[in-house]
Amino acid sequence: MRATTVPRRVLVTGASGGIGAVTTAHLVSHGIAVTALDRDGDLPEAADRHVHGDATDPAVVGAALEDADGVVHLAAIPHPTLGTPWEVFSTNVSATFAVLSEAGARGIRRAVVASSVNASGVPFNPHRVMPAYYPIDEDLPVDLGDAYSLSKTVDETSARAAHRMWGIDVVAFRFPLVKDHDTLMAAAGQAALDPGATVREGWAYLDVRDAARAVHAALVARVEGAHVVGLAAPDTLLPGPTEELLARWAPGVPIRSPLPGRSAAVDTARAERLLGFRPEHTLGQDVPPSAEVRAEVA
Ligand SMILES: NC(=O)c1ccc[n+]([C@@H]2O[C@H](COP(=O)([O-])OP(=O)(O)OC[C@H]3O[C@@H](n4cnc5c(N)ncnc54)[C@H](O)[C@@H]3O)[C@@H](O)[C@H]2O)c1
Repeated sequence: MRATTVPRRVLVTGASGGIGAVTTAHLVSHGIAVTALDRDGDLPEAADRHVHGDATDPAVVGAALEDADGVVHLAAIPHPTLGTPWEVFSTNVSATFAVLSEAGARGIRRAVVASSVNASGVPFNPHRVMPAYYPIDEDLPVDLGDAYSLSKTVDETSARAAHRMWGIDVVAFRFPLVKDHDTLMAAAGQAALDPGATVREGWAYLDVRDAARAVHAALVARVEGAHVVGLAAPDTLLPGPTEELLARWAPGVPIRSPLPGRSAAVDTARAERLLGFRPEHTLGQDVPPSAEVRAEVA
C-alpha cells in the first residue's frame, strides 16, 4: 500500500462543468492549488491557473500539468446523444489517454478519472437488457450498446494500463446521476412519474458536493494500483421501499443482498473500504411522492 501524500497542486480537466467547478472549489478550500482546464465555459475563479484548451491534445495537457502532482480528469462528452458516436467515443477516450499518458510520463503518482455507472453499458442500452443483479456493483456483467458507455469502459481499461505502464495510481469513479440538490429533486420528480425509465441505474444519485468529497478522498487515500469504484447516495430518488420497487420494475432480477427501506440499489462498499468515503448529502424523506400517491391526493 502506497504511503499517503497530499498533492500540492492538481490539474482538473472539465473544470467548467457541473462536477469540475464544485470539485475545484472544494479542493482549493482544502489547501490544494488547482490548475483548471476546459475547452469551453467559465473556468472556476477558485483556481489560480486557467487553461482554455482541449484535453485530447497531449501538448495542451502536458503544459497544463506543470508543477502538478495529481490530476482529476473530468472532461468528457457526458452523454451518447451530445455528439456523433465517433465524436463521443474519440473525444472521451483520447482525452483520458492524453491525461494519463502525460501525467505518467511526468512521474505524477495519482489520478482520479470520471467513469460512469454507464460503464456496464446497461442503463443506455438500446436493447431491453437489465442488470444481471442488484445491488449494482463494479463487477456487473457488461453489455455495450452505445458509444458513451463504450468510452467509459475503455477509460477504465486505460486506467489499468496506465498503472502498468507508468506506475500511476488511478481511481476511476463510476458516478451515478451527479447534480446539485435542486436538480436532483427535479430528477426525483421525474423518476416518481416513470420509475421504469431509470430502474437500470437503480434510481441512484449523488449530490455534487459528495462527488467533490469523493475526488478529494481519492487524491489523498493510501491506494496503489488502478481501481474502479462505484458511488451513490445511501438512498434512491424514489419514495418507496427499494425491494418492492425492484420487484415491480425489474421482476426476476436477483437481489443478492438485503436492501432495507429506501436503500440504494448500488453497492458502495468498495468506496468505503478503499477510500473511507461515505456520502454526507441525501434527499432523505424530501423526495416527491410517487405517481400513485399523487393520483390518490388529486
Ligand atoms: N454528472 C453526471 O450525472 C455524471 C454521471 C456519470 C459520469 N459523469 C462523468 O463525469 C464527468 C464530468 O461530468 P459533468 O456532469 O461535470 O459534465 P459537464 O458536461 O458539466 O462537464 C464536462 C466538461 O468537460 C468539458 N470538455 C468536454 N470535452 C473536452 C475536451 N476535449 N477538452 C476540454 N474540456 C472538455 C466540457 O466543456 C465541460 O465543461 C464526465 O466525464 C462525465 O462523463 C457525470
